[in-house]
Amino acid sequence: MRTKIAIIGAGPAGLMLAHLLQRDGIDAVVVESRNRDYIEGRVRAGVLEQTTVNLLERLGISGRMCREGLIHTGTNLAIDGELFRIDMEALTGGSTVMVYGQQEVMRDLFDDAAERGIKIIFEAEGVQLHEVDGSHPFVTWREHGAERRLDCDFIAGCDGFHGVSRPCIPETIRKTFERVYPFGWLGILAEVPPANHELIYANHERGFALASMRSATRSRYYIQCPLDEKLEDWPDERFWDEVSLRLGPATAAHVVRGPAFEKSIAPLRSFVTEPMRHGRLFLAGDAAHIVPPTGAKGLNLAVADVTFLAEALAAYYRSGSALGIDHYSDRALARVWKAERFSWWFTSITHRFPEMDGFARKMQVAELNYIRGSRAAQTMLAENYVGLPLQ
Ligand code: FAD
Ligand code: PHB
Repeated sequence: MRTKIAIIGAGPAGLMLAHLLQRDGIDAVVVESRNRDYIEGRVRAGVLEQTTVNLLERLGISGRMCREGLIHTGTNLAIDGELFRIDMEALTGGSTVMVYGQQEVMRDLFDDAAERGIKIIFEAEGVQLHEVDGSHPFVTWREHGAERRLDCDFIAGCDGFHGVSRPCIPETIRKTFERVYPFGWLGILAEVPPANHELIYANHERGFALASMRSATRSRYYIQCPLDEKLEDWPDERFWDEVSLRLGPATAAHVVRGPAFEKSIAPLRSFVTEPMRHGRLFLAGDAAHIVPPTGAKGLNLAVADVTFLAEALAAYYRSGSALGIDHYSDRALARVWKAERFSWWFTSITHRFPEMDGFARKMQVAELNYIRGSRAAQTMLAENYVGLPLQ
């Protein structure tokens, strides 16, 4: 088989790139190690930036999102149960976010990919990248026991944090920057109406809590927990008691309890690899960087990367100019680092750190109170939260 772009991974980065290239008439094949049900079943992101929403609209994949997604014009912070609102729309000159689950985004991307004839190979075993720094790269894998080979011009490594693409950049060239947080998020999904019509990010003496949602009838809640916490130690009632306590009595009065149909613990990590290009291999999304989920940036960053990459590849095939391709890593990283900073900062002011003493907690509370009273500080939060421009 031969194609122009071999895309490794059919997550948000890989599938979005496939759609962007298809729109520009650039031939691509997606090679994915799992099946569609597995990818659509993963409960992950919930908040889409304005730029992600705009892109889905431009690609004509926004019909269901516009009908079923929830536009949020603001978000809320809580300090020991006391809420204040950030009016994102007013502070950013009209930008908002869309609450629409990653699972739904993936379903829409897969449905439209099938209609548009985008080629996706599922359940590819033992995927390997070859000659990424030569002029004839190729990808190999096993499909139902048979060996397969895909020759291409370029490879897009969109295979997430644990994928095979990133290690193809030699260690002598690859630099990594990392912070592993000493806690995780215990999250649940329940078929109950949300406690509040907008999200609440809560800093509480006992640790962080987040009230989020997927729809008017489905709630998503998270609490900060130690990394070695066991799910079996968190029966539903214990979770509801703890999240209610951390959100505070005013919000707790509106928390509707119900059976959790999904419960999981996710570790928190900041991670960046540089550069995001080596020879004919480009990295995009979680393959290149991870943010703690506090800023709701992970999926959105993946989308921004592939927007830049698709532009660069389109220019290359249109005019033969390699300028965009050569600039891809620097351009993507400039935005990645800003999102890393925001996610790290938002995590640092909302979570309880093990080494935190009375002074450190007072600093958090003072910072949150400063944000509450300062339009300038609220604007910084709002413009990062809705998503920085794609420059
Ligand atoms: P992935 O989604 O990891 O996709 C990579 C794909 O590559 C997968 O399908 C995988 O099966 C495939 N793959 C892996 N290895 C191979 C291989 N060797 N060969 C072939 N295929 C391979 N982000 C937000 O923007 N907003 C949020 O609100 C948010 N909340 C989150 C909450 C939680 C609890 C978690 C865990 C994450 C959250 N994120 C959020 C982050 C977001 O889910 C990720 O950043 C996003 O999925 C990244 O997309 P990706 O395509 O780069 O990687
Ligand atoms: C979610 O609903 O899953 C969610 C929302 C906001 C975040 C992280 C996760 O910051």
